[in-house]
Amino acid sequence: MCEEMVFFKNKNRKTGVDKNNLPEHIAIIMDGNGRWAKKRGLPRTAGHAAGSETFRKIATYCNDIGIKYLSVYAFSTENWKRPKEEVDAIMGLLEKYLIEAYDSVIKDNIRLTFWGEKAALSEKLQAMIHEVEERSREMTGLHVNVCLNYGGRDEIARAVKSIAKEVISGKINPETIDETFISDRLYSAGTPDPELIIRPSGEIRVSNFLLWQSAYSEYYFTDVLWPDFTSKVLDEAIAAFQNRNRRFGGV
Ligand code: FPP
Repeated sequence: MCEEMVFFKNKNRKTGVDKNNLPEHIAIIMDGNGRWAKKRGLPRTAGHAAGSETFRKIATYCNDIGIKYLSVYAFSTENWKRPKEEVDAIMGLLEKYLIEAYDSVIKDNIRLTFWGEKAALSEKLQAMIHEVEERSREMTGLHVNVCLNYGGRDEIARAVKSIAKEVISGKINPETIDETFISDRLYSAGTPDPELIIRPSGEIRVSNFLLWQSAYSEYYFTDVLWPDFTSKVLDEAIAAFQNRNRRFGGV
């Protein structure tokens, strides 16, 4: 059992969600799809299909309760190492979601963006992403960031490269480089850092997710596998977050 589950058994803690004090930005590592499928004797791809349904439900719930930003880890820079069949299945699920999103972003007032290196994706997927990002640009409800071909180190390396070019061209003085300057060159430029990062499936590691942005994030780990993740589990994570004492290096 995860520590967090024990934490919830502590009856001195409040367990309800204070809807007036929600984190602005929640990020989720959608982990455990493969194990969920294995437990049922299904192919791993069935786990990803179930996981993509969970993503839809959780995004809808976040929009309904007034979360401003939801970032999800859909495919890492390391996930290309998986069997081609599995990679193709995940890309297929993303295409399916993008087709639906073309209408749903307007209907549900959702802004949809993708963080990660898009050049490695199929031209079709790149075009669909571009279309939906543009179409949803002015939406004012939940802002969903799908991290796709995303790696935290890769993101930072790209920012360093672009800053080095600006220095070499004489456009900037290295003395002007500060934390904001770097933040402005990440995929997340303009998005507040996630206050709460959730990892289901019992794994307790960061796995190259939002390395820069997570400097002061609160983590929540649960044994629930991503396809089984519900709005109730999200409420538990938010309630745990609301019980934390965030000091940002102060006392
Ligand atoms: C990690 O679980 C999950 C992934 C690498 C893929 C996540 C993709 C989706 C949920 C589907 C597409 C997303 C959208 C936004 C429509 P794992 O396979 O590593 O699980 P395991 O650790 O149990 O093997």
